[in-house]
Amino acid sequence: MVTMSQKVIDSGCTAFQSYIKRCQDQVETAMRACLNAQTGCAAALAEAMVYATFNGGKRIRPALVYATYETFGGQWSVVDAIAVAVEFVHSYSLVHDDLPAMDDDELRRGRPTCHIIFGEAMAILAGDALQSLAFEVLVTGLINVTDQRHSSGLELGIEQKLNVIKTLAAASGTSGMAAGQALDLSATGQSLKEADILLVHNLKTGCLIKASIEMGALAVEGIIDTDLAALVEFGRCIGLAFQIQDDILDEVGKTEQLGKPAGSDKGLRKATYPAIMGLDAAYDLVRVLLDQGLSALQDLSVPAPRLEEIACFLVERDH
Ligand code: IPE
Ligand code: IPE
Ligand code: MG
Ligand code: MG
Ligand code: MG
Repeated sequence: MVTMSQKVIDSGCTAFQSYIKRCQDQVETAMRACLNAQTGCAAALAEAMVYATFNGGKRIRPALVYATYETFGGQWSVVDAIAVAVEFVHSYSLVHDDLPAMDDDELRRGRPTCHIIFGEAMAILAGDALQSLAFEVLVTGLINVTDQRHSSGLELGIEQKLNVIKTLAAASGTSGMAAGQALDLSATGQSLKEADILLVHNLKTGCLIKASIEMGALAVEGIIDTDLAALVEFGRCIGLAFQIQDDILDEVGKTEQLGKPAGSDKGLRKATYPAIMGLDAAYDLVRVLLDQGLSALQDLSVPAPRLEEIACFLVERDH
């Protein structure tokens, strides 16, 4: 049987690569502007923040923000602040994730990790400051539209604006990424049941991916509840699939291709999907989740070809 995902994957790769490149360029220009504006910043801290953010990340979360907003006819520049904010939170989470107190990894995005170059204290602070900057960018970009530094001219109602900010906060903190990272650490060396690992993966990774889509949708004026619900379900499926694929790549990938140490999870006795169910079942689950995500998109009132392509890319990727 040819699945829906297979049909999408077969439909033209080069055009998609250039789409992703445009997303990367768009968000990186906006990120650069925000970081350049950090003039009051201690020099070493500013340097560590730039190092942690300009290092070859795929920029998948910004691409999801842009693609979601574009699905409803919006211009990318309007949601730059959202794309930048989510990438800053993600980059901060990676800096902290690599610290000796967490995964103790020395390679990230093909280069020595932030703490290897700048020391642990500065890496912690760079992560802290990136998180604060994410919310500053969001507030400035969404609310203070007269500030030309981050202005996106986003014309949203106050409730909509606050919902965007609340969505990122919830996805990052004690009901999202930070909680997932805490559970991930306490699960180390344990043999978890599938329901437990589902919770860890949804929280540590799924929430931020889902939030990228949700925030792109919340910025759409007059978004209808059924569209929002379909997008949230899509985000839930691909967010989980993304982390399972990350676990698979950790087992089957090579360090040079991943840009981070292959086999790190086994070395740390992490609770991962391949560890509890085997690689083949993990591959199958990724496929099932992708097809569930794509079928949620069928419930939208508009077609969403870019979101379909990004979803397929997320689970087909080799790094
Ligand atoms: C890596 O995320 C960490 C996880 C949540 C699995 P990405 O694979 O998106 O990392 P970059 O940003 O492209 O380096
Ligand atoms: C990390 O999961 C998720 C984050 C919130 C950063 P991993 O620990 O598996 O991510 P990698 O493999 O180091 O990128
Ligand atoms: Mg980790
Ligand atoms: Mg890690
Ligand atoms: Mg991993």
